[in-house]
Amino acid sequence: MSGSVLVALRGASFAYADGPPVFSGLDFEVREGRALALLGRNGSGKTTLMRLLSGGLRPRKGELTVEGRAVRYDRKGLTALRTTVQLVVQDPDDQLFAASVGQDVSFGPLNLGLPDPEVRARVAESLAALDITALADRPTHLLSYGQRKRTAIAGAVAMRPRVLILDEPTAGLDPDGQERLLATLDGLRRNGTTVVMATHDVDLALRWADDAALLTPSGVSTGPVAGMLARTELLAAAGLRLPWGLTVARLLRSHGLLADGDPGPRTPEELAAALADG
Ligand SMILES: Nc1ncnc2c1ncn2[C@@H]1O[C@H](COP(=O)(O)OP(=O)(O)OP(=O)(O)O)[C@@H](O)[C@H]1O
Ligand SMILES: [Mg+2]
Repeated sequence: MSGSVLVALRGASFAYADGPPVFSGLDFEVREGRALALLGRNGSGKTTLMRLLSGGLRPRKGELTVEGRAVRYDRKGLTALRTTVQLVVQDPDDQLFAASVGQDVSFGPLNLGLPDPEVRARVAESLAALDITALADRPTHLLSYGQRKRTAIAGAVAMRPRVLILDEPTAGLDPDGQERLLATLDGLRRNGTTVVMATHDVDLALRWADDAALLTPSGVSTGPVAGMLARTELLAAAGLRLPWGLTVARLLRSHGLLADGDPGPRTPEELAAALADG
């Protein structure tokens, strides 16, 4: 895996009050420019890991580092962290609170004390990136679920984070909404944002991510996505199945229709194109 380590947990242990340990001595790295999918069964710790990476939770032992420097959990340290790492929680209703879309998206930049023109520019840029410019004056409570999700993401994007962490961003979106969101995330990636996403969808992870991190009871395993999602024992331990594309690739290979080094199709469209090419 290339890309320098931007944010990392080193020897991190965490347990909720009165709860068993969720992580013990965890080492975890987010590498610059590498889209990372976080996968694991319900309760495996995806949300907890994301909250540790974004500073909402603090490890009991070990540390969170940004470019190798330990994060301090005082006001100054956390403000610096917020401009580097932004978390979008799964339920937009836990994130949105202002009366209108524009107000909600401007909240973070205003809180940084940025001058008004800068705030306005950032809000306009984020609304455009999420394709919700037309909703700027809309009351948040009148938005559809997908629109609320986009607004929550726009609020994080307005902070211009280097790492954008999204907790199950495609859950609850219709197929077109999912495709539009992936296109939006691709745009952010092209502009240099490192995107981390928790998902239960192995097919989506395979086509979208560079790397995958699988959370199992024995720890977190990270590596290039196609290799990780082909490890059947690890998948079973993480409560996941083999992605559609890898199943098809195995089938094609066993019939001599796919060369050994060829990763195979990642989507039905790619399969159709490959078959059309003969
Ligand atoms: N606020 C909390 N207080 C106490 N325990 C919690 C809290 N949040 C999560 N847990 C526990 O921590 C563990 C990890 O939960 P977490 O929410 O991180 O899992 P997850 O992988 O995000 O699951 P899901 O796929 O259901 O979203 C679980 O055992 C869960 O019960
Ligand atoms: Mg979760």
